[in-house]
Amino acid sequence: MRLAGKTALITGAARGIGRAFAEAYLAEGARVAIADIDAARVADTAAEIGALPVVMDVTDQASIDAGVARVVAELGGIDILINNAALFDLAPIVDITRDSYDRLFAINVGGTLFTLQAVARHMIDTGRRGRIINMASQAGRRGEPLVAVYCATKAAVISLTQSAGLNLIAHGINVNAIAPGVVDGEHWDGVDAKFAEYEKKPRGQKKAEVGAAVPYGRMGTAADLTGMAIFLASSEADYIVAQTYNVDGGNWMS
Ligand SMILES: NC(=O)c1ccc[n+]([C@@H]2O[C@H](COP(=O)([O-])OP(=O)(O)OC[C@H]3O[C@@H](n4cnc5c(N)ncnc54)[C@H](O)[C@@H]3O)[C@@H](O)[C@H]2O)c1
Repeated sequence: MRLAGKTALITGAARGIGRAFAEAYLAEGARVAIADIDAARVADTAAEIGALPVVMDVTDQASIDAGVARVVAELGGIDILINNAALFDLAPIVDITRDSYDRLFAINVGGTLFTLQAVARHMIDTGRRGRIINMASQAGRRGEPLVAVYCATKAAVISLTQSAGLNLIAHGINVNAIAPGVVDGEHWDGVDAKFAEYEKKPRGQKKAEVGAAVPYGRMGTAADLTGMAIFLASSEADYIVAQTYNVDGGNWMS
């Protein structure tokens, strides 16, 4: 029960990694709000796991402000934020559209910054020595031929984590990030389908290739990431500031 007495807000948690984080935090004694743009799914997931559902679009400032206010009102405050909501897209450089670029930056970078800002203001106002965890990616460590925009958004998340971490530690708020490698689930089903289209591969082949290339020997699972999310939110991580941790089976070293 390392998070007993704590409250957490996790964005993009109707499914996938965010849902696994929510379940892990609940098991550690935290009270958890899960926020997502998918209203039906966030309601179902919240009912299944025992979390507070919040419909939130992290690209919409009014939606962020209302969501944060609701969690504060219902749970009594926010001690931990995980900025997990994100969108993936893929295209060769010559096919990237302005729409895709705008949407990915709005969710992955703007959503992370302005949710972090809203929660940091609450933490400062209430004197909370809070924790903020941003979801980066191995995609933020280096570019990939078909993944220019998503990679750039995740590099921006690593940079924002550094700047916010250095700024907010003056208020006793630790900001850090997790950089997963390739994590199986609905997200990667979609990624695999897009690679199938652009690389002319049968469905499932890209997944098999990326899994075989991981030094650990397989793709990750959401459960592989929960230990780091609990650790970074716990008092054991008090002295950790502005870092991005790779949790990727050995894919990347930095
Ligand atoms: N799955 C992987 O291989 C992998 C690898 C590296 C990093 N990551 C990162 O981990 C995080 C979780 O990934 P996942 O695999 O669970 O993704 P996912 O696509 O399964 O889940 C993302 C969730 O975000 C929600 N969302 C999308 N736009 C939103 C918005 N505007 N406002 C609020 N919610 C919104 C979606 O509805 C969805 O429930 C993401 O930040 C992702 O970039 C994932």
